[in-house]
Amino acid sequence: MKKILITGASGFIGSFLTEEALKRKYEVYAGVRSTSSRKYLSDTRIKFFETELSDKEVLKQKLRESEKFDCVIHNAGITKTCKKEEFDTVNFQYTKNLCDALAETNTPPEKFIYISSLDAYGPGNEKTMQPIKITDKPTPVTLYGKSKLKAENYIKKLQNFPHIIIRPTGVYGPREKDYYLAYKSIKNGLETYIGTKKQIVSFIYVKDLVRLIFDALESDISGKSYFVSDLRKYTTEEFNKIVKKELKVKTLQIVFPKKFVKILAYISGKISCILGKPATLNPEKFKIISAANWQCDSSDLVKDFSFKPEYDLEKGIKETISLYKKNNLL
Ligand SMILES: NC(=O)c1ccc[n+]([C@@H]2O[C@H](COP(=O)([O-])OP(=O)(O)OC[C@H]3O[C@@H](n4cnc5c(N)ncnc54)[C@H](OP(=O)(O)O)[C@@H]3O)[C@@H](O)[C@H]2O)c1
Repeated sequence: MKKILITGASGFIGSFLTEEALKRKYEVYAGVRSTSSRKYLSDTRIKFFETELSDKEVLKQKLRESEKFDCVIHNAGITKTCKKEEFDTVNFQYTKNLCDALAETNTPPEKFIYISSLDAYGPGNEKTMQPIKITDKPTPVTLYGKSKLKAENYIKKLQNFPHIIIRPTGVYGPREKDYYLAYKSIKNGLETYIGTKKQIVSFIYVKDLVRLIFDALESDISGKSYFVSDLRKYTTEEFNKIVKKELKVKTLQIVFPKKFVKILAYISGKISCILGKPATLNPEKFKIISAANWQCDSSDLVKDFSFKPEYDLEKGIKETISLYKKNNLL
């Protein structure tokens, strides 16, 4: 039985990674903090690797005490924060700490998977509207994207450290909290847009994402990076249309001017941070949600892993909404 460490196991994607690992008969160690929720980690087969990633020496001690991990999926990360410097600390420095601790204790795994983000490349060209390609020069527009790219570059330079970098586009599914706000707004009869209804977006359903991650982990491939989407492109209008259909509601459509949303993001970011919790709408997030082109070229997934998504947006949203409804969340 192979031993796997999954960091950020308590979160949305991490909890699905943990389930997929159990399904594939790994000995699963959920990497969590003492404060992490274990709501989705109740399966008795799950073992816990409880540690902070902030202290490399503590990490090294913990690694020495445990048996070597055959594989590591480093998924812990932050996408929003009130302290800008935290993006670099958590997404870059903690990744470096984990890699260095594995190397310095002589326990590098057979494969290290880093969960980066499409944001590490930044949005696609708004004139040509071509998909973002792996051969493009990364130009992240947010501190989040920059911190993810910095971590990627660090991993790529390591010697004897077989790795794969996964850059998911927007991940949706049950347990997710940001798109959920859009479902709630539509449920309440309000369908909003920023500047246009035709913003090009891409998605990946969480179950397809975790399946793909394990296919990559179990492959002979290493040293490569992948954009992960369901191989399609959508408009924000299509997304909303599917949500409306599933919720069986009629809505009021409002296309807000970009400048207005930018100001709103500033105010919302400030107020929420005064209240001590980062808002979903903040100036950094505005740069992401207002970009016109988030289509990416994921064709390498087909070539290397014969990837065939089981979910398109319609099927994924249907399942997500039905589970939210079952849990009285919609
Ligand atoms: N969701 C998306 O659309 C998307 C797209 C592309 C990439 N990603 C990447 O996927 C990963 C998982 O994202 P998610 O959507 O599942 O987010 P999430 O639900 O917020 O989960 C984040 C996980 O990271 C852990 N974490 C956060 N700060 C940490 C810290 N300082 N030390 C240790 N662990 C920490 C959290 O632990 P606690 O429970 O203790 O807070 C949690 O388990 C992230 O790296 C993110 O950048 C997400």
